[in-house]
Amino acid sequence: MRVHVADHPLITHKLTVLRDQRTSSPVFRALTEELVTLLAYEATRGVRTTKITVTTPVAEAEGLALSEPRPLVVPILRAGLGMLEGMVKLMPTAEVGFLGMVRNETTLQPDIYAERLPDDLSDRQCFVLDPMLATGGSLLAAIEYLFDRGAVDVTCICIIAAPEGLAAVEAATKGRDVNIVLGALDASLNEQSYIVPGLGDAGDRLYGTV
Ligand code: PRP
Ligand code: URA
Repeated sequence: MRVHVADHPLITHKLTVLRDQRTSSPVFRALTEELVTLLAYEATRGVRTTKITVTTPVAEAEGLALSEPRPLVVPILRAGLGMLEGMVKLMPTAEVGFLGMVRNETTLQPDIYAERLPDDLSDRQCFVLDPMLATGGSLLAAIEYLFDRGAVDVTCICIIAAPEGLAAVEAATKGRDVNIVLGALDASLNEQSYIVPGLGDAGDRLYGTV
């Protein structure tokens, strides 16, 4: 598993405002979108491309097009939905599939409550969006789900991760082509398995308490 933690002052600045408990939902949503676009730049470094030639008004120019099958972007509902626009802004031709997952706050096990994905992901590059990687249970369930359907590699964009969750995902995905791109790697989990210092409940901060 490859892990990349973004090291850029603009990302840290936006993340600092995101963490602040005084930040309102509209600002939180806007910042999440901006952060994802910045992280997606790194996350898509390995996107598969095909060489093409175009004709400019002056001459022929060699360039690249995204290869087929097109990459699949998978936001994990609910909080991952807040990251979707920022991702497709950078890669507008990607397809989008959905996985709805909620962490049971007692058992900490992820429960899949919705799914809308192609049955066959053979040869697909997949990009999973979930702002929080806490125990890693939700992200791991999503990664396994995609590999079970034939995905070739899975890149996950998370805004904040805890070391415990990152280690759990790494241990469980040995031998698989998995990339994790993070805005920050925080200190730890607390007794409720919330990321510390983190930003609280990402879904609630994006959309309110349900
Ligand atoms: C949050 C977050 C992740 C999960 C992380 O979702 O968006 O999916 O928790 O926790 P884990 O690493 O311990 O599994 P949540 O279950 O709160 O659902 P929501 O997005 O609907 O708020
Ligand atoms: N889910 C969240 O939204 N935040 C955390 O810190 C942990 C899980």
